[in-house]
Amino acid sequence: MDTLEINKAVAAVLIGGISFMVAGLIGDVLVRPKRLEKVAIPIETGAPVAATAAPAAETVPPIGPLLAKADPAKGEATVKKLCVACHTFNEGGKPGVGPNLYGVVMGPHGHQQGFSYSAGLKDKPGNWDYEALNHWLKKPAAYAPGTKMAFAGISNDQDRANVIAYLRSLSASPAPLPQP
Ligand code: HEC
Repeated sequence: MDTLEINKAVAAVLIGGISFMVAGLIGDVLVRPKRLEKVAIPIETGAPVAATAAPAAETVPPIGPLLAKADPAKGEATVKKLCVACHTFNEGGKPGVGPNLYGVVMGPHGHQQGFSYSAGLKDKPGNWDYEALNHWLKKPAAYAPGTKMAFAGISNDQDRANVIAYLRSLSASPAPLPQP
């Protein structure tokens, strides 16, 4: 091999190395890595998530079909658990935290004389028909904003109907049942 051939080989290696370096430098100039300001894909940490869309208004199914298969005895049992701390149910019974509830079905809002009702309930138009009781007992605070009845409501539809069927029985002449 003569010297010229050796020179060519050395030049080839050098040019190869220089091209590699230059390519790297140009690459750095063209593609500038930039740090993200914040994490692009947040990872769940178990921290409370901001409330998403507000829950749709609760629907209360019509009381007719539920009352048709309601059991007042079961309603009475529920009332003994949930309501007697505040209400009496006997005819002429004294009010407690809440009014006496004998004969409340079809009566006016605030049916017991002398009980100090909230304006939110007393001034609400309408009366205690079955559908009103259905909504009231589902969520008292939604039916009469500002009510004094500190009770969350009965969410189970049939339980609620059973209680209304029991309230209906608290009368000398119970109101007729609605058409289912
Ligand atoms: C923590 C006490 C409390 C509990 C428990 C409670 N109530 Fe009441 N209730 C009240 C008060 C107080 C009022 C009067 C509300 C007002 O003036 O806003 C009331 C009002 C009512 C009324 C309207 C009466 C009227 O004359 O207009 C009905 C019907 C009623 N309650 C049914 C029930 C039933 C049925 C239950 C059980 C499932 C129940 N409540 C549980 C305190 C209570």
